[in-house]
Amino acid sequence: MAKVKTTFFCQSCGTQYSKWQGQCTACKEWNTIVEEVVQKPEKNDWKTSTNTQKRVSKPLTIKQIDSSKEARLDTLDAEFNRVLGGGIVPGSLTLLGGEPGIGKSTLLLQISLKLPYKTLYVSGEESQKQIKMRAERINPDNESCYILTETKTQNIFKQIEALEPDIVIIDSIQTLHSDYIESSSGSISQIKECTTELIKFAKETNTPVVLIGHITKDGNIAGPKILEHMVDTVLQFEGDRNHVFRILRAQKNRFGSTHELGIYEMQGSGLREVSNPSEILISKKDEELSGNAIAATLEGMRPLMIEVQALVSTAVYGTPQRSATGFNAKRLNMLLAVLEKRAGFRLGAKDVFLNITGGINVDDPAIDLAVVAAILSSNEDEALQANYCFAAEVGLSGEIRPVQRVEQRILEAEKLGFSAIFVSKYNKISLKDTSIKIQLISKIEDLVNFIV
Ligand code: TYD
Ligand code: MG
Repeated sequence: MAKVKTTFFCQSCGTQYSKWQGQCTACKEWNTIVEEVVQKPEKNDWKTSTNTQKRVSKPLTIKQIDSSKEARLDTLDAEFNRVLGGGIVPGSLTLLGGEPGIGKSTLLLQISLKLPYKTLYVSGEESQKQIKMRAERINPDNESCYILTETKTQNIFKQIEALEPDIVIIDSIQTLHSDYIESSSGSISQIKECTTELIKFAKETNTPVVLIGHITKDGNIAGPKILEHMVDTVLQFEGDRNHVFRILRAQKNRFGSTHELGIYEMQGSGLREVSNPSEILISKKDEELSGNAIAATLEGMRPLMIEVQALVSTAVYGTPQRSATGFNAKRLNMLLAVLEKRAGFRLGAKDVFLNITGGINVDDPAIDLAVVAAILSSNEDEALQANYCFAAEVGLSGEIRPVQRVEQRILEAEKLGFSAIFVSKYNKISLKDTSIKIQLISKIEDLVNFIV
């Protein structure tokens, strides 16, 4: 073996240094640089000896490249397929990140147990018995899913060669280690090396690999940022652990859009796909309550009706409190300022609390109008009509701004039985013969006239 070689890596961004320093010059983080043993006698990972020289790629013109559509592996999970853009692309590397306990292992095990292909589920975190216990809750009789508990990549590749699976799932990348690097598993250089070996395997055999990745306190995938550049798709599994809903989003997708969203509900027998989220997110109440408004939002290509709740009360202490769950607090302050200035509401001395039900974080600006309506309704202590919904952005001068794909929102609201939808006057709508009333408004004052 060659002499022990050490290098310094920034644990936050992965930059390499030859000596220690207090601050990383690349990402400006302090105290993130640690020494790691790096030792590579010779590169000898996924079948290097046999086929390094075989596949030398030649430059081709765009015309020469075979454009036949890549066949995707259907995962039989409509939500997962949607987020990926239609299924798993052969030879791709997908990284699934999420907080501990959110259900990453459950999701991927459930998909493995459903897949009609030969699947290898490699776990470095749980024993085969533990996985069996989990599988029994989900779908115990599957013939084509193999479970392996192993953390060394060289051993995993040996098993892969023997089994020849159609898809490989790794739980998690932080537990893997490669013999060619001496630092401990989970360190920057191990994660980098193991991912490189897996990428090489995936691209050479055209087998898709799905990795589970842990995330750090601030919500980033643990390990170097480079990891996210190396893989083809980065998925994020999120949701409040106290809520039953889980949301799957694509942060990066080389083979599809990143706007799509998958919704699941955690049940005793695994995750259930929620194909019609609007019906669950809106609570059906017998009596009308003040401070509730329904927003017709869009997540990706899918319309989503969301309930917004506001509570406006007189401030007990000197400085009024503003708090928002599932909505940007700065945006709430802005909307309050607009209401104060344009509609003459004296909200300065009031506490305002805002809640988006279902534990969902929305960044569609079309939710603005529903937020304003909920605040006005709570302030007046006057309930809005339960079958009204809202879809528009509110500008700084109190103007009601148009939103994209308004017709899709209107059709969804109509389908769910709403009687009226408030949208901006500046939206071009060519829908005819709708049973829902389309109320066009141009400024905040118009809304005030309608609901107060
Ligand atoms: P897990 O999938 O292990 O999360 P991760 O791999 O992201 O750390 O844990 C999922 C949680 O969901 C766990 O607390 C138990 C719960 N759960 C259910 O509610 N129903 C089920 O069918 C399963 C398998 C787990
Ligand atoms: Mg897990």
